[in-house]
Amino acid sequence: MCGIVGYIGSRNIKEFLIEGLKELEYRGYDSAGIAILQDGALHICKAVGKLENLINKCASIGHEGFGVGIGHTRWATHGKPTELNAHPHLGEFSYVVHNGIIENFKTLKEELDPDRFVSQTDTEVIVHLFERELRNHSDPFKAFEATIARLRGSFAILLITKAAPDTIFFARESSPLIVGTKGEEIFFASSDAPLIGHAQQVHYLADGEYGFARPGEVVLFHDGRRIEASYQPLTIDKELAQKGGYRFFMEKEIYEQSEVIGETLMGRVKEDRIEFEELDRTFFEGIDSITLCACGTSFHAGLTGSYLIERLAKIPARAEIASEFRYKEPLLRPNTLFVAISQSGETADTLEALKMAKRANLKTLAICNVDNSSIVRLADRTLLTRAGIEKGVASTKAFTTQVALLWMLALYLAQRELPPSTLERELQSLLHLPTALRVPPQLHERIRRLSKRYLHGHGFFFIGRDIFYPLALEGALKLKEISYLHAEGYPAGEMKHGPIALADPELFTIALMPKGLLYDKIKSNVEELSARDATICAISPTPFELADDYIPIEEQEHPMLEYFQMALVLQLLAMEIAIRLGNDVDMPRNLAKSVTVE
Ligand code: AGP
Repeated sequence: MCGIVGYIGSRNIKEFLIEGLKELEYRGYDSAGIAILQDGALHICKAVGKLENLINKCASIGHEGFGVGIGHTRWATHGKPTELNAHPHLGEFSYVVHNGIIENFKTLKEELDPDRFVSQTDTEVIVHLFERELRNHSDPFKAFEATIARLRGSFAILLITKAAPDTIFFARESSPLIVGTKGEEIFFASSDAPLIGHAQQVHYLADGEYGFARPGEVVLFHDGRRIEASYQPLTIDKELAQKGGYRFFMEKEIYEQSEVIGETLMGRVKEDRIEFEELDRTFFEGIDSITLCACGTSFHAGLTGSYLIERLAKIPARAEIASEFRYKEPLLRPNTLFVAISQSGETADTLEALKMAKRANLKTLAICNVDNSSIVRLADRTLLTRAGIEKGVASTKAFTTQVALLWMLALYLAQRELPPSTLERELQSLLHLPTALRVPPQLHERIRRLSKRYLHGHGFFFIGRDIFYPLALEGALKLKEISYLHAEGYPAGEMKHGPIALADPELFTIALMPKGLLYDKIKSNVEELSARDATICAISPTPFELADDYIPIEEQEHPMLEYFQMALVLQLLAMEIAIRLGNDVDMPRNLAKSVTVE
């Protein structure tokens, strides 16, 4: 999740921009930059890595006195983390910073002079398009308005230009942007934290809002019409601001899933196909099997992916736990694609397994959330999950974006052979993911109330069939790692092969009961448990009369949408139980966010 700051006024602009970017570091980034327009001169400074690098590089720019400035921390999605790809991006006399993804940037780029482009980013088209529009519009704001009218996708934009040296142009579509004021001073940021202690009042831009700001003046538009800003006082708690008002980073990241999954899909799910700009079909030529290798939650995503790939693409696929794979002397056949899945890109076991595949000359693909990480640098190709930084040790949005990407990969491999109607149903279901992952307030409140019943007992079984078996594993892991209660994920069909011996009222069974896949089978498994007096909590679109508790999900057209909704329920249930137990949800005992040692 990139970060944006902006300022108009007469304080030390560089200081405000840098301090503002520091407040956004928690969102994660791999490069940063600032641009300042003062006394008709444009100054820019960009650096890869931590803000210290930027601070050292920009020691000589900026000075006291009036000016306008913009700053950005970048989490790479299009183009590697390099200085050229860092924001702000430069035209001939304008600079732009941008959060989000310009989905139609390739089309726009074709209209513009290719010699002007120096980066691999989607963002750069904005500033070149603006300067071309400026040749058609004498008024810079009209040029800016014409520019954003051409953009498709998600964006929070700040643009400064010599054509309007006291102005910042801004726009918001599906990516947060806040404007604040204090007397003549104007502040911008992509979240509250940088504005705390500076702005007296703020307006949270809504989708489709855009405009320009000058000293003491913010002029707002929507659909071409002038509108009034609705200012409100600013929260003063920085920690609360970093958590976006949520109690924990984990809670914030659960709620963020609806937004970030949209970025995972952006530019990849087309009307009639899946397209990966990072891949071409020749990469998969000769591949006759796929090995998905990972640890923990990422392994659960990989196991889900193995079902999807076999079912949709008819390619043999198996999921491997990296720490096992490394020592089992696996058969590494040259026509096998090796897929390393990792949120951090630094997990030692997964990295070593990837090295084994590379030594055996297998083609390798990384599914990762951190560009430039060790696994990304080693793999032949990478698909980024674009989940933004995940602060909570218990993985949530990284998991759901991994599964979404694996679903897309399965379709990408299958789409030439799939019947058009099947492909259309899959694509439409994928596009429904941002809605499916929205947290209904009444659902969260129901789970919070229910959680008080599950604070003891001698253990939990999470059971599911087919793709809901890996999800059952994930639900058990979520609960274990933050509540410290014992839980096991199990294939529902396996209960009668031993585990049902544990069934009694103190054995809590969380049953994943999708309507769209093997419902009758899972129903009979749960009936067997109920007959032995196990305490059952059913997660399903319809109530199950034998369950002691029931958590509803919405009826869905596709079992994968039920999967994502159940993932949401499992994440919230684990969190609410852990909260009741008084545990540190974000930093559970004995755990690290990235296991970089064996
Ligand atoms: C999941 O909630 C845990 N944080 C852990 O299992 C994690 O998924 C595992 O360590 C793998 O990490 P990675 O995705 O960064 O490789």
